[in-house]
Amino acid sequence: MIAAREIQVEKIAKSRLADTPLENIPFGRYFTDHMLEADYAGGEWKSVKVVPYGPLQLDPSTAALHYGQAIFEGIKAYRDETGNAYVFRPYDNWERFNKSALRMNMPTVPEEIFIEGMRKLIGVDKEWIPTMKEHALYIRPFMFSTDALLGVRPSETYKFLIILSPSGPYFAAPMKIIVEEQYTRAAPGGVGFSKNAGNYGGSLLAATEAKEKGYDQVLWTDAFEHKWLQEVGMMNVFFMMDGVAVTPSLDEGTILAGVTRSSVITLLQEMGIRVEERRVNIDELLAAYGKGRLTELFGTGTAAVIAPIKELRYKDFSLEMNLDKAPVQNELRARLAAIRSGAEADVHGWMWKV
Ligand code: COI
Repeated sequence: MIAAREIQVEKIAKSRLADTPLENIPFGRYFTDHMLEADYAGGEWKSVKVVPYGPLQLDPSTAALHYGQAIFEGIKAYRDETGNAYVFRPYDNWERFNKSALRMNMPTVPEEIFIEGMRKLIGVDKEWIPTMKEHALYIRPFMFSTDALLGVRPSETYKFLIILSPSGPYFAAPMKIIVEEQYTRAAPGGVGFSKNAGNYGGSLLAATEAKEKGYDQVLWTDAFEHKWLQEVGMMNVFFMMDGVAVTPSLDEGTILAGVTRSSVITLLQEMGIRVEERRVNIDELLAAYGKGRLTELFGTGTAAVIAPIKELRYKDFSLEMNLDKAPVQNELRARLAAIRSGAEADVHGWMWKV
């Protein structure tokens, strides 16, 4: 196994850190000085190294650009008052990354490249971790096929990279969501559970049309009836009904198995709130809302953490949520922040020290 210390580092000549505003920094627009790069060929990973962040040179026939063998992850790193860097549950993302890889007929990435590479890279660019509230160093591991060939077949060569982006919150304000009834994100047997680039590309038109109607994102529904709820934009979704937290189950393979989703389920259970992972449809939500039993809606994701939803639109119905009374999502947000900052004991071992 490659240890982090064995990964070669080629340092940038002049750091860009002094020119980067680490406070109130937008999501995903600035990148640190270095990136991790590894290449797969001849059935094995080779040349793992940390190099200056910069453009890649690609053949115009690079397979990923044509046939979409491309997957990614989103992870966050934090820094405590003493300067130690921590990453939130990176092994869960590593496992999910490899599930995405298998589904997309790509090679898996071993721990010594994904985890040790991340350790090395963050070690080199540790000063870039923002410390401001709701800020983090967003970690983006990704892999794509690199064969220069237009034939449709799994590539024989791949590139794996990790880039780092100091970032503030993804959503600045509570969201207005519309139930999607025309487009489909995922169907059983498809690739909905995997974090492949195409899932995001395929969602953009629906999101654009939602914006034109005055909404921030769509709530995806099943491919057949457009009634069964899946996820919000690029986040998992939770509904508080009668004091029970309901979230769509992962069973059909149409939903991303969110790491924040899983953390939220654990925290809800600790808070004494029953969690139901099951099928849930829009009629149930409307009925619960009509009787005053639907009290909170929120999205969960690495980038967004806990994203409040203030309105859900379905046909002529508008479900308006009172965010002044949102105790569950507020407590979840506060507890996740406390675990990340070290103010609350990390009893689940979620914080991984770099
Ligand atoms: C994440 O939450 O990390 C995501 O994948 C969302 C991203 C596409 C911005």
